[in-house]
Order: sequence, then structure tokens, then C-alpha cells
Amino acid sequence: MEVNVLKNYKELSSTVADIVEAQIKEQPLSKLILPTGSTPLGIYEELVKRELDWSLVITFNLDVYLMNIDHPESYQSYMRKNLFNRTNIYPDHSHFPFRPTSAFEDKIDGSMGIDLCILGIGSNGHIAFNEPGSSFKSRTRVVELSEQTIEDNSRFFDSIDEVPTQAITMGLGTIMESKKIVLMANGVNKLNILNVAMNGEVTEDVPASILQNHDNVKVFYCD
Ligand code: F6R
Repeated sequence: MEVNVLKNYKELSSTVADIVEAQIKEQPLSKLILPTGSTPLGIYEELVKRELDWSLVITFNLDVYLMNIDHPESYQSYMRKNLFNRTNIYPDHSHFPFRPTSAFEDKIDGSMGIDLCILGIGSNGHIAFNEPGSSFKSRTRVVELSEQTIEDNSRFFDSIDEVPTQAITMGLGTIMESKKIVLMANGVNKLNILNVAMNGEVTEDVPASILQNHDNVKVFYCD
């Protein structure tokens, strides 16, 4: 699988924003899957600057913590702050995983297919919150976060004890049904896992390795 190495984070952000922009312009009724975390912040900043027309776009977030959705670190707050409140997307068009998770899956199905899915990668190879060992057939469900993920994400909270331990995540099977997938990774600490995922064995121990089985994946990395 080809990994595009970019000069810096600015270039990574503008390259992925170009892909989202092209998608929305070509198909105003696009259905997108969107990530949270540190990596997409530059992309969202870039997309806001471009003042695109989001009025027909439908979005699904990859995952949410099981926590108060009004907490500043909830993924709902993150999306409102970094993207949704700064575009003309309709609040009714932006969806987050919810329970019952089968109803969330029905909502995705009802949208007639995801056009573009943007992913980050965790330091343990997770995509969305599909931690190592997740079934390649998994669908949206409640999961326990791994110790590694809790530790990695503690940087967003005052203390590690405040990091939620459970989340609702789209499954690997759900993600793989997207027509196009973009995976982005920022920072030398992601290089090793990216290499393992893209060039190593396709195994449930490395969730992102499933992307080797998809025929339209673009990977972007900068150190
Ligand atoms: C978040 C998500 C996660 C992150 C991953 C990398 O919605 O799906 O898989 O993409 O944990 O996070 P950052 O970008 O903070 O390194």
C-alpha cells in the first residue's frame, strides 16, 4: 500500500482538505465519515477557511466517548467547536454513534453508502476505537478502551482518571464499506505502527492492517 510522505503538518492538512473539498464540490450530497483527535485539527481549520457549502453534506463520526456529551472533551463538543459551528452544515445532518448501535448502523445504511471516510491511527494500530483484537467483521458497538489509548488520550484531560474508559465506535466492517478511505498519521511516533499496518501481516492484532484489503485507500504521513 502506498504511503504519501508530506513535508509537514500544514501540507498534510491541506492535502486531506483538498480531498474533502473535491468530494463535496463534485457531489454536494456527499456522505462522510469523520474523525476526532489531534491529527484532523489542521484539516478542519483548513476546511473552515475554504468556506465550502456543507448544506447537503451528511456526516457520521467514527466514535464517541461514553460520557456527558456537553463535556468540553466529548467528541460532540470537539466537532461543534472545530467544524460544525463554523460551517453551514445542518445539525440534523451530523450524526454520532448512539445506542442502540444497530439503529446507528441503520442510519448509515439508510444514507445509501459512505462516499469518503477519513481516519487517524492510534499508536497501537487502532482505527476509530477498534482496539487490537477487534473482529474484522465488527459493527458499531460499545467498547472498552485499551490502557494504551487511555494513556495516549490523557493529554486532553486534567488527569488520567478523567479519561473515559468506554466508547461507542463504528466497527471495522462498517468502516470498510466506505467507497474511499483516507488514513492520515502525523508524527514520528506513528511511523512504526503505520509501517506495520500498511506492510505487515493483515491481522486483527493490528486493526488498521485491514485497510490492505480495501481497494481505494490513500495514506498520508508527515513527521
Ligand atoms: C478518533 C479516532 C481515533 C484517532 C486516533 C489518533 O475519532 O477515531 O482512532 O484517530 O486515536 O488520534 P490522534 O489524531 O489524536 O493521534
